[in-house]
Amino acid sequence: MNKVRLGIIGLGNIGRYHAAYLLDGKVDRCELVAVCDAFEKATEPYQAKGLKTFTDGEEFIKSGEVDAVIVATPHFQHTTLGIAALQAGVHVMVEKPISAHKADAERLIAESKKHPKVVFGGMFQMRSEPRYQKIKKLIDNNELGTLLRLNWIDTDWFRSDAYYSSSAWRATWKGEGGGVTINQCLHQLDTLAWLFGMPKSVRGFAQLGRFHNIEVEDNVTAYMEYADGASAIFISSTGEIPGTNRLEITGTRGRVVLEKDKLTFIRNEVASDEWNKTSTTGFGQPDQWTIDIPFGNADMPHAAYIQNFVDAILDGAPLKVPGEEGIRSIELANVIIYSSLVGQTVELPLDSKAWEDKLNELGEKSTLEKKVVEATKEDFTKSFRR
Ligand SMILES: NC(=O)c1ccc[n+]([C@@H]2O[C@H](COP(=O)([O-])OP(=O)(O)OC[C@H]3O[C@@H](n4cnc5c(N)ncnc54)[C@H](O)[C@@H]3O)[C@@H](O)[C@H]2O)c1
Repeated sequence: MNKVRLGIIGLGNIGRYHAAYLLDGKVDRCELVAVCDAFEKATEPYQAKGLKTFTDGEEFIKSGEVDAVIVATPHFQHTTLGIAALQAGVHVMVEKPISAHKADAERLIAESKKHPKVVFGGMFQMRSEPRYQKIKKLIDNNELGTLLRLNWIDTDWFRSDAYYSSSAWRATWKGEGGGVTINQCLHQLDTLAWLFGMPKSVRGFAQLGRFHNIEVEDNVTAYMEYADGASAIFISSTGEIPGTNRLEITGTRGRVVLEKDKLTFIRNEVASDEWNKTSTTGFGQPDQWTIDIPFGNADMPHAAYIQNFVDAILDGAPLKVPGEEGIRSIELANVIIYSSLVGQTVELPLDSKAWEDKLNELGEKSTLEKKVVEATKEDFTKSFRR
């Protein structure tokens, strides 16, 4: 094979976005040949462009028309369609979250292990933003010393009621498996795990439908503790205007702050733990240097991830984000809500069955009547780069 015949399943906001740059030839050695959406109408513009179209995802996967698919449907279908693709030997790039909850992610990952030659990627394009890559480099190069604390206020995800009523699956236990944590701030939870690793325990506080007529959480605060004593506070919301996106990481050798397109590193001339032991003054501090770190923006990060997916299929290139890494953000999203619902700190790893049972119970008890209104045609891509 010297060219990948690619398909997209799910032609909503992000599916159409993927289709647009693919049809524009932004990914080499790859051709978008077919698309699928449960709503036939969504496929019509692509039929008009000469692409093959389908309305049943599993039939599409088995059709022999595609070598690889992007799964861009609502969350629960990520697992079923992902597994169907893996079983059919069709390479699969699953949109975030890779599944609606941790137990489903485990099922998807277990299936992928049975098909090591089938490429399984996760769309976590935020990791390719230079701002986060530079922070990662500071951490990996020990510029921050021993990590002590991470604070992330990630509340610039405002969504109106019109957004929530644009699709029936949104903000429901049965359709989405959660709210702001599993959807909007999942990229940040992925980045948090990528930068800081996984905590050993989490205490979450989640408010369900605080700002909107929804049954899932739209406002969360989590306190996380790590095995080495480091801690993190993570806050997210879809109900605040103006929102904040401020990430602050403190280590013994300094602090890095990312806010409003500005990345600042305050470097301690002497590490705080060393100063603590050697200083002869009670109140003094070592010299601190403030350094502004320049960064640009990733160039079409989604297209770059699909290029990497194609290179993995054709050349065996390592994936930027192997699909199985997607379980970490799901575990964080799930544990925040689970901890809040049971009212106690939860040790990790989260018991995935306990959360799945709770989620099913919430879905069964659901009384929310959702009226779906015509989806707004706003440019949602402006929220890609956070
Ligand atoms: N990586 C990113 O930057 C990014 C951005 C937005 C959304 N997403 C993710 O992409 C997914 C889709 O989000 P969206 O905003 O595009 O949703 P959406 O509601 O706009 O679109 C979903 C589409 O899937 C179709 N669909 C539903 N079930 C299907 C099935 N079984 N088979 C085929 N088609 C089906 C629907 O008809 C709809 O057209 C979500 O998981 C979301 O979290 C990722």
